[in-house]
Amino acid sequence: MSALLQTSTQAASEAAIALPAQSRSLLLRCPVCTHPMGTLVLLPMRLEPQCPACGFILKNERGIWKALAPCRDERYRQFVTEYQTIRQSEGRGSSGGRYYLALPFKDATGRNSWQWKLRARSFRYLQRKILPQIEREHKGGLDVLDVGAGNCWLSYRLALRGYRPVAIDLRTDELDGLGAARHYLRFLSQPFPRFRAEMDRLPFAGAQFDLVIFNASFHYSEDYRTTLGEALRCLRRAGHILIVDSPFYNREESGRAMMAERRKAYVEKYGFASDSVASCEFLTRQNLEQLTCAYGVQWRLGKPWYGLRWALRPLQARLARRRKPAKFYIVWGMLQ
Ligand SMILES: C[S@@+](CC[C@H](N)C(=O)[O-])C[C@H]1O[C@@H](n2cnc3c(N)ncnc32)[C@H](O)[C@@H]1O
Repeated sequence: MSALLQTSTQAASEAAIALPAQSRSLLLRCPVCTHPMGTLVLLPMRLEPQCPACGFILKNERGIWKALAPCRDERYRQFVTEYQTIRQSEGRGSSGGRYYLALPFKDATGRNSWQWKLRARSFRYLQRKILPQIEREHKGGLDVLDVGAGNCWLSYRLALRGYRPVAIDLRTDELDGLGAARHYLRFLSQPFPRFRAEMDRLPFAGAQFDLVIFNASFHYSEDYRTTLGEALRCLRRAGHILIVDSPFYNREESGRAMMAERRKAYVEKYGFASDSVASCEFLTRQNLEQLTCAYGVQWRLGKPWYGLRWALRPLQARLARRRKPAKFYIVWGMLQ
């Protein structure tokens, strides 16, 4: 397996083009009624499968499979609108492909550099410390589900590594959602599939992935038990779950204080609190223990080094009598 650490646009493109084409098929499950919907052969992708039980049709629009049940689409509408407003105001995305190809190592716009620096450190930690261990069990590359994939930078990086990613997200816009993957797909001999879908109703039959990864997305879950249960359903054994870049607090009160501060700031700036969906928004050790009790998943915590300034934040907060800041661990779950 090629383990490529790409830092430049040109190198990334060359490496990607060199990968051999692999055929890909997915067993589908209806997101409306959970009935099996047959196999989706992704090359060519002309047929739009229909659920034999409830009639739901999996449509493909501009390369993205629309796998969100209509009633759920309605439910997420406000969340998606408000989230996109916030992301646009933060200056996410770019009109040029170079920006996307350089992620997570460089934010060519300079608008969210500090956050991409954190993402890059977490990703390097994955590349060096965790993925090689998982790869030893999967010599032919991994089938990986990238949940809450955003612009799909992670799916792209994993495809360069020889994995077979499938990206899912609620958002399909071309700046910051699944539509932005167009900047990556032309550099891959086998484009990865993208589904508009929700983490709690994955449109796939069980046991098709070796790794489910939530990069900065697990804390959008409304109920960790449901979300993890759905991911585990889709995992083969022995399978791996990675929760990356979700805020982690030792104490519940600190997480709750962060939520209150953020909502207040959103109301002041945008006129809405962005709480139409009751996301959990942070993780605690107790959450992980509860998930171990529910599913038997054993967790390991990876602690990347994010730099001295980051390491000094708890001390600064204590001196200023502010709440404890979040930590970002890499939470690695294994299911035998
Ligand atoms: C902070 S972004 C992270 C994007 C990307 N993984 C990254 O690392 O840049 C969180 C993503 O989770 C998606 N998301 C939130 N709730 C979701 C849900 N219930 N199902 C699927 N995706 C969701 C959002 O649309 C957003 O793209």
